[in-house]
Amino acid sequence: MSHAPSAVPVLTIDGPSGSGKGTISALVAERLGWRLLDSGALYRAVGYAAGMAGLDLSDVEAMTRCAHGTKIQFRPAMDAGETRVVVNGHDATDELRTETAGAAASAIASMPSVREALVALQLGFRKAPGLVADGRDMGTVIFPDAAYKVFLTASAAERAKRRYKQLKEKGLSVTLGGLQREIEARDSRDASRAVAPLKPAEDALLVDTTGMGIDEVVAKVLAVVQP
Ligand code: DC
Repeated sequence: MSHAPSAVPVLTIDGPSGSGKGTISALVAERLGWRLLDSGALYRAVGYAAGMAGLDLSDVEAMTRCAHGTKIQFRPAMDAGETRVVVNGHDATDELRTETAGAAASAIASMPSVREALVALQLGFRKAPGLVADGRDMGTVIFPDAAYKVFLTASAAERAKRRYKQLKEKGLSVTLGGLQREIEARDSRDASRAVAPLKPAEDALLVDTTGMGIDEVVAKVLAVVQP
C-alpha cells in the first residue's frame, strides 16, 4: 500500500548543537522503526563539497549551485555502527563531524537560496512508516504539519562538554574552552539569521536535557509519539 506523504507521521527534533539531537533522533528512529533525516549532515556535506572544489564559502551563487549539484548519500554501516555519509562518491563521514565542517555548514545555511535548494531532498525522506527529522527548522519550516514536535536544549557548558567527549573519542584534538566559544558563536548565528532561524515551533515540547541521561531523554521523546 502506498501512502500520500502528508499521511506519513513525522516527529521533528530541533535544537542547538550538542543538545543531544543526533543521538536521541537515531535511537528514537530505531525504536519506532522509522526513517531518519539528519538535515545538518546535508548542510555539512554542501560546505564540505564547496571546500573540496576550492569555492569561496561567501559566494552565494556558487554555494547555491553547489547545493543543487552535490550528490549526498546516506549508507547504513556494515557493522551495526553509524550511518556513513557519502558526498560526491567519497565517504566524508569523519570530515563532516569536525567543528570546521559545522562552522562552514552554519555559514552557508544562512543563505536562503542554499536552504531552498535542499527542501525537496528533505521532503523526500518522508516515507512510511514514519520519519524522525533532526535539525534546526524541521518543525517550523520543512515539516510544519508534523504531528509530533520536540525542541531539545541544554546549557552551553553542558553542550560543549558533550561535544568535547564525542570529538575526543573520535581522536580529534580540541579544547573545552575553544569548543564552547565555537558552539556559542554558531548558535548565535543560527538563531539570529533571517531565514529559518533556530527557534522552537509553537507546538513543540521543550525538553532541557541538562543533567539528563540518554535513556531518560529517549523515553520522554518516545512518550510524545506513544503516550
Ligand atoms: O546539526 P548540525 O550541527 O550537524 O548542523 C550543522 C549546521 O547546519 C548548523 O550549525 C546550522 C545548519 N543547519 C540548519 O541551518 N538547518 C538544519 N535543519 C540543520 C542544520
